[in-house]
Amino acid sequence: RLASARHCMVLTGAGISAESGIRTFRDTMEGLWKDFDPAALATQEGFDAAPALVTRWYDWRRLGCAQAQPNPGHIALAHIESALTGRGGAFDLFTQNVDGLHQRAGSRAVHEVHGSIARWRCTKTGREFDPGPEAFAEFPPPSPWGGLLRPGVVWFGEILPQEVLDRAEQVLDRCDVFLSIGTSSQVYPAAGFMELAAVRGAFVIEVNPMETPLTRTAEISLRGRAGEIMPRLAEAAF
Ligand code: OAD
Repeated sequence: RLASARHCMVLTGAGISAESGIRTFRDTMEGLWKDFDPAALATQEGFDAAPALVTRWYDWRRLGCAQAQPNPGHIALAHIESALTGRGGAFDLFTQNVDGLHQRAGSRAVHEVHGSIARWRCTKTGREFDPGPEAFAEFPPPSPWGGLLRPGVVWFGEILPQEVLDRAEQVLDRCDVFLSIGTSSQVYPAAGFMELAAVRGAFVIEVNPMETPLTRTAEISLRGRAGEIMPRLAEAAF
């Protein structure tokens, strides 16, 4: 299926970066939301109530992401993209991850559904700010344009980037193979991509060590770690 795909759409979640040492959100043992409160840390209200705490938490995660390295799962996806596009096919990777590891692994058509933890923005002007390699010197970090700096991630209750949603809508219409990798398929609208792809006739493959609420939507469910399954899939297909 993958080898003969005309247009492959991929959705990744925190699970693909787990083997790079980045914590997932909902896994029972390691999930971030077990130790931290999403309402306090991942909402506008949480930021307004405690901007120092919230920005410190995101800056800690930002530096962790910058130190992490892409793993064989990320690299296999970059190989699949170049193999498919090299023979005239199309490939679009939508990621809920904010860690930038797909780009660093060499993936090109990456669409960040939940933004990026490496790009911050001014609360007053909306202008983007690159924090550089060091931790911020103070929290909350002041913006050079007068407001504060906040991470460029999508918080609960916020709308997703319109250009990413528009592209997803186009690709969902065209894709004939859909891969869902390392996501618990619980956060919408991203989780809905898999259901829409299936309804519109794509062949859906899920890669996850655990069952998810959408496993039954998939034609094939590959139970295992992305870092082990994806290289085998790429090798088998190309
Ligand atoms: P979750 O933490 O909800 O789910 C991670 C999934 O990865 C689970 O289904 C695990 O079984 C699976 N997993 C764990 N290790 C894996 C491995 N080595 N290989 C493959 N799969 C593995 O993360 P997401 O689904 O990405 O939103 O969460 C969606 C959104 O919820 C995130 O983008 C974040 C969070 O709140 C925002 O921050 C806006």
